[in-house]
Amino acid sequence: GGDLTLSGRSGKKIIILGAGIAGMTAAYELGGAGYDCTILEARARAGGRAWTVRRGTTVTEIGGVKQVARFDNGLYFNAGPMRIPQFHVTLEYARKFGVAIEPFNNVNESGYYYNENVGELSGVKVPKRQAKADVKGYVSEMLAKAVNQKALDLPLTSEEKAKLVAFLKSEGDLNADLFYKGSERAGYIEEPGGKLDAGVRKDPFSLKAIINSGFGQFFSSEYSYDQQMMMFHPVGGMDMIAKAFEKKVSDRIQFHAEVQEIIQSTDGVRVKYKDLNSGALKEVTGDYCICTIPLSVLKEIKANFSAEMATAISKISYASAGKIGLQFKRRFWEEDEHIFGGNTLTNMDISSIYYPPTDYFAKKGLLLGYYAFGANADKLGKMTVAQREDYALSQGAKIHPQYFKEFEASFSVDWKKIKYNLGGWVAYTADDRKTYYPTLCKPDGRIYLAGEHISYITAWQAGAIESARKVVTELHERVMKE
Ligand code: PHE
Repeated sequence: GGDLTLSGRSGKKIIILGAGIAGMTAAYELGGAGYDCTILEARARAGGRAWTVRRGTTVTEIGGVKQVARFDNGLYFNAGPMRIPQFHVTLEYARKFGVAIEPFNNVNESGYYYNENVGELSGVKVPKRQAKADVKGYVSEMLAKAVNQKALDLPLTSEEKAKLVAFLKSEGDLNADLFYKGSERAGYIEEPGGKLDAGVRKDPFSLKAIINSGFGQFFSSEYSYDQQMMMFHPVGGMDMIAKAFEKKVSDRIQFHAEVQEIIQSTDGVRVKYKDLNSGALKEVTGDYCICTIPLSVLKEIKANFSAEMATAISKISYASAGKIGLQFKRRFWEEDEHIFGGNTLTNMDISSIYYPPTDYFAKKGLLLGYYAFGANADKLGKMTVAQREDYALSQGAKIHPQYFKEFEASFSVDWKKIKYNLGGWVAYTADDRKTYYPTLCKPDGRIYLAGEHISYITAWQAGAIESARKVVTELHERVMKE
């Protein structure tokens, strides 16, 4: 993180392909050292996948119909990145560019788990706090008993075993006999209140019901390094960061410029592009090229890469990902269910529902009706936009029956079908990282690749930024030695 300082200046011409976060980071940092950058961007906007859908946003997926977002002013959803870990370099740029941020509460115990075909708890919406109390309670009980019954072969003294049992007792909220008999942590059937109102606690589900529910499988998503609270997002939409970058480099972006061919020789790079406004074929030349086009797209573009690089580019797969924004005329999740941000997770195809982490108490609100990956995203993506809406509403209504009455408008995105992206993010296998990734990281003559796919922070804007910073540093060192 922090400032990138390039010592020494150069007037070399750099052609940057793509005005996403990686391309704009490269232009911004190189610009500071005097370079003459030109960014070619096929779209009419910068930001790439960092794309916020709000009133008036349009998209036509490959083979699909044109969608126009009919959301009310002020309501939005982030079709691409939506959350930022505290430690990502993305926040350093947001700070430097004066982009206001607010918490993105990725974790909220008031959200639900809802699974189908899991035995006794099938089709029961269980608040996360309740599922967590029961899973942790039973698991701690079993472990504490196993320790005390010497059922585990532990290299611990009896004093240490007592400490382990003490930990399990507090972790699981066990009683003095080390039984889990339910916990206040699960919440109440009737909330406690004033005077004689002690409240009515929830009874635990049975061990059998809890084990069959599969709820415990959801927990780890909240523990992974890059999903832990606190998380942040820009006030007003994720594209506020892209727009801030764009402001810094706008004089260097050529919009509506669709790359047709990349040709390098020993002394320079030529890029042929189609001006989508006029249809004319044009060309730019430079000393070097930084190509941030996703590999899924790049592999179809004519280029005289080395055979090794061309092979590497063609071998890498991209992940499926899809989202739908649903506008409701009333924030029933807040008003009726006291859920302020966070998400509900389910084994239905919709996978998850995210509650808006912004504008609490507003009149209307926009939910993420699904955020699906892999096969679920493909299934939803294959549907027409009307079918996706129906599907998101009918599955979501099993959790929130208010859906049908309060629904107003939707907008959905299947990243595999979005032109110039053709996928959510790169999906390297461990083998790809060994076989092809080193080639992708090396400059191919005068061409350097950058983007989230040239990082170990894939599927994050931070990966795009860090890769661009590495490329800029390497390129500058090379130029300074020339
Ligand atoms: N960064 C994306 C997100 O937070 C994709 C991702 C999902 C990455 C889950 C890691 C884990 O939604």
